[in-house]
Order: sequence, then structure tokens, then C-alpha cells
Amino acid sequence: MPNINAYVELSPEEKEAKKDYIDRHSPFITVAPNAKVGEKLAVNVRLGKNYTHPDDTDHYINEIKLFDRETLLATATLLSGINGGHGNKGQAEVTFFIVPQKNLKLVALSYCTKHGLWQSDPAEVAVS
Ligand SMILES: [Fe+2]
Repeated sequence: MPNINAYVELSPEEKEAKKDYIDRHSPFITVAPNAKVGEKLAVNVRLGKNYTHPDDTDHYINEIKLFDRETLLATATLLSGINGGHGNKGQAEVTFFIVPQKNLKLVALSYCTKHGLWQSDPAEVAVS
């Protein structure tokens, strides 16, 4: 099992020194804070707030997973070329559509073929 890296687990000094490395590998969830039971909800996951990641054949973002607590809800498989291919960079991004039945605590995981697994901050959705 590889290490799971997270945006929040570094000291302020480490964060500053590795800011672009951390940012471009970290998934960020965008979702409405409130939703209705049984209605479709869009959950966007994008890697990098401010920085882009390489899209080379030996180094690219391969997967984005979405969990509700410990339950895996979805996996998107990405291949090199989705952001222009070799020599290009981009922000891997997917939007999942889910139908909630109860409050959500969403966490995304991303996998870089060279730099391993990265975890997002949790995003909570009140469902009524
Ligand atoms: Fe990487």
C-alpha cells in the first residue's frame, strides 16, 4: 500500500517549500453545501488550485476516486493525452453526479503515476 499524501499534513515551512508540487497533485472538491434527498448532485474534483501537472506518457494523473466516508462511490480512469499529451500540462478534472440519501462527507483521492496517492480535504453536504 503506497503512502497517501495530503495537502494538510505538512508543516507551514514544508508547505511553502513544496507548494507547487503539493498543489498540482492535490484533489480539490467543489460541491454545493446543501442538497435534497434523491436529487442529482454534481461533485467536481480538480487537481491543483493554482498549478498544472505534466501529461507525459510516463507521468500523468491516472485516477480520481470519490468516497463518502469509507464507501467508494466512483472512479474515473484518465490516460495520458487528456490534457494535450507529452510536453503539455493541465489540471485533471472530472464531475461526478451522485444521488444522495443522507448527509455526505466526501473525500477524493488522486493517483499520479510517478508521485502516488493524494487525498483531498473532506467536503460535507447537508442532505434533507
Ligand atoms: Fe506527479
